[in-house]
Amino acid sequence: MTAPAVGLDSQRVLIAMPGCEAATMRLATPLSAELGHAAVSHFPDGESYVRLCTPVHGAEVAIVCTLDHPDEKLLPLLWLAIAAREGGARRVGLIAPYLPYMRQDVIFKAGEIRAAEHFAALLNPVFDWLVTVDPHLHRISHLSNVYCIPTAAVEAAPAIAAWIQTHVQAPFLIGPDEESRQWVAHVAGICQAPWAALTKTRHSAWHVEIAELPNIPTQSVPVLVDDIISTGRTMLAAADLLRRAGQPKPVCVGVHAVFADNAYSQLCAASAEVVTCDTIPHPSNQIALTEPLVDAISRIFDLPMPSSKQMLV
Ligand code: R5P
Repeated sequence: MTAPAVGLDSQRVLIAMPGCEAATMRLATPLSAELGHAAVSHFPDGESYVRLCTPVHGAEVAIVCTLDHPDEKLLPLLWLAIAAREGGARRVGLIAPYLPYMRQDVIFKAGEIRAAEHFAALLNPVFDWLVTVDPHLHRISHLSNVYCIPTAAVEAAPAIAAWIQTHVQAPFLIGPDEESRQWVAHVAGICQAPWAALTKTRHSAWHVEIAELPNIPTQSVPVLVDDIISTGRTMLAAADLLRRAGQPKPVCVGVHAVFADNAYSQLCAASAEVVTCDTIPHPSNQIALTEPLVDAISRIFDLPMPSSKQMLV
């Protein structure tokens, strides 16, 4: 028997994957959405169990799932999206403030794959749309190159710039590598602060080298700005260069607080402050992106899209 419809056809239902409950609650009220509920667990053999507990027939459903540690989250996420679709949702969207695998955007060695593309191929058939924050667009210039569903990429730069303007006097912004140039240039433009991007060589996940520093005006506070802090090696190498040049400890600002192993404690020791946006829950989250996320999600909710694509899975 089909579950009863939730109110009107346009009823919005947000469902949190485990760990995303707080983010989902922050988004629900400004989006005039109902909070749905799903039970997600594992069978003793490790298989994922998902049950959608909220009726969603005719509803616009969005699942909130930030995708750090993506491998363990992906299958339950796909199961939940399928449950929503089979439950009669009008459309099923994904709000993934952190979108993974985007750095695997090229084949460096024979036998590797462009995982960014193949990860997208797993989400494309199951979701009607995707909203994320600053995906790592580098050799892939736009999400539409790999995602064939409507996507929106929220920019963290205005919120980062506002944080820097409020908390740092005379900032000198530094992007620790070429890939960070787009973020540091954008933030510096808003702050009207001087900036530079450095040159990095990555030998392995845990070993990076950064070439020399530019001249940094005296009395300014170095602020490192990057999209992802994972092993922290990029920021640590830049902080070490600053230390060797007699500069003050930097303020480190990242969009996505991935922080593998002890990266966070090591970076705290090497910097004046470590600050991130709230795309992945972490003690360093000081920059809230609820407002720009709500704007982007509202726009995508309002897009005239065909209701419920055919199940391709
Ligand atoms: C890649 O180029 C990104 O912009 C970041 O610089 C990188 O992901 C940081 O990684 P990690 O913290 O592992 O050095």
